[in-house]
Amino acid sequence: MTYKIAVLPGDGIGPEITAQAVRVLEALRSDGLNIEFEQALIGGAAYRAHGEPLPESTLALAKASDAVLFGSVGDFSLDTLPRHLRPEQAILGIRKALNLFANFRPAVVYPELADASSMRPEVVAGMDILIVRELTGDIYFGQPRGVRECPDGPFKGQREGFDTMRYAEGEVRRIAHVAFQAAQKRGKKLCSVDKANVLETTQFWRDVVTDVAKEYPEVALSHMYVDNCAMQLLKDPKQFDVIVTGNLFGDILSDEASMLTGSIGMLPSASLNESNFGLYEPIHGSAPDIAGKDLANPMATVLSAAMMLRYTFGLEEYAARIERAVQAVLANGPRTGDIWREGKERTGTSGMGGALLKALAAQ
Ligand code: NAD
Ligand code: IPM
Ligand code: MN
Repeated sequence: MTYKIAVLPGDGIGPEITAQAVRVLEALRSDGLNIEFEQALIGGAAYRAHGEPLPESTLALAKASDAVLFGSVGDFSLDTLPRHLRPEQAILGIRKALNLFANFRPAVVYPELADASSMRPEVVAGMDILIVRELTGDIYFGQPRGVRECPDGPFKGQREGFDTMRYAEGEVRRIAHVAFQAAQKRGKKLCSVDKANVLETTQFWRDVVTDVAKEYPEVALSHMYVDNCAMQLLKDPKQFDVIVTGNLFGDILSDEASMLTGSIGMLPSASLNESNFGLYEPIHGSAPDIAGKDLANPMATVLSAAMMLRYTFGLEEYAARIERAVQAVLANGPRTGDIWREGKERTGTSGMGGALLKALAAQ
């Protein structure tokens, strides 16, 4: 069987980092991995070429493929466009169109990187958290939204911006099942994060998750308010096994958790639908400040490719090989600036890709 991967590099550092992930996947061909790639434009790059961030042809390619490898979108010079034309609409649109509601964001501290974290090594060493972020609902997609005339209160008559936070029961149930099943395969601890003390939507979330818990008696469920969780992640991150939360809180907490691992350039993700079809992407953005300079860390994208092999293709051995190569490079190889430390050779995006190829060949 040949697996067809749609490669959507996007903007900023997207093309640089996806190129390294493709190199790594291609290197596995000689060991029998049958894959083929097809690229398409997305985000600002697609807007500039076709006048829209998510062209029909790009979506059609994703649908016709076995999995999607995504870089990043975002281009500050397009931030004044009407919202539906902005680069970020492409990633939101493709998640929604493909029903990729379950986003896995594993925050793992590699022993070799414990010293790269901004936290003391003993706080983070051995940390292995899985954040399960609901990805197609919440205030991200809730209607109505917009800017209107403020209908009441002291600011009546002025313009006001508004969004709608909402979750349907089925939406909460399906992500809760995904999270409980993930916890069952790991440390059997699930922490559901909400703001139930203030927000109706998230009290409802808490009630539904509590109900789903009855089907998973072997998993210990706890609940935590999001503000406390943000603090606990810094105080004692190793208390967490699996965290499940909504779209907005999951976005913020996963960026926070990434810094515990050493760099946002290390955190991969898988966005899956009910049949394990997936889009694989680093959690970071297009990093315009370092784009085009061969400075970006490609590890998050390479590790996302490993997740693709594991989750969508069920090719555990190839996934593990990539992860072992990442660990070998972290241990003995050169590093990009974001994780560089005294005593290490400094390299760029493509140098890191080259080091990964060497590590694969040496296995
Ligand atoms: P960002 O994640 O792009 O960058 C934040 C900081 O992290 C920057 O200093 C950047 O240089 C650094 N960084 C990010 N990835 C890195 C890597 N691989 N290696 C080394 N350093 C890295 O977030 P931002 O600056 O808030 O957003 C920039 C643009 O990206 C915006 O347009 C935003 O909307 C978009 N964005 C897109 C995605 C996505 O495509 N999924 C995710 C987040 C942000
Ligand atoms: C992410 C990004 C996106 C999100 C943006 C670019 C729409 O921050 O993938 O984490 O908020 O989901
Ligand atoms: Mn984000």
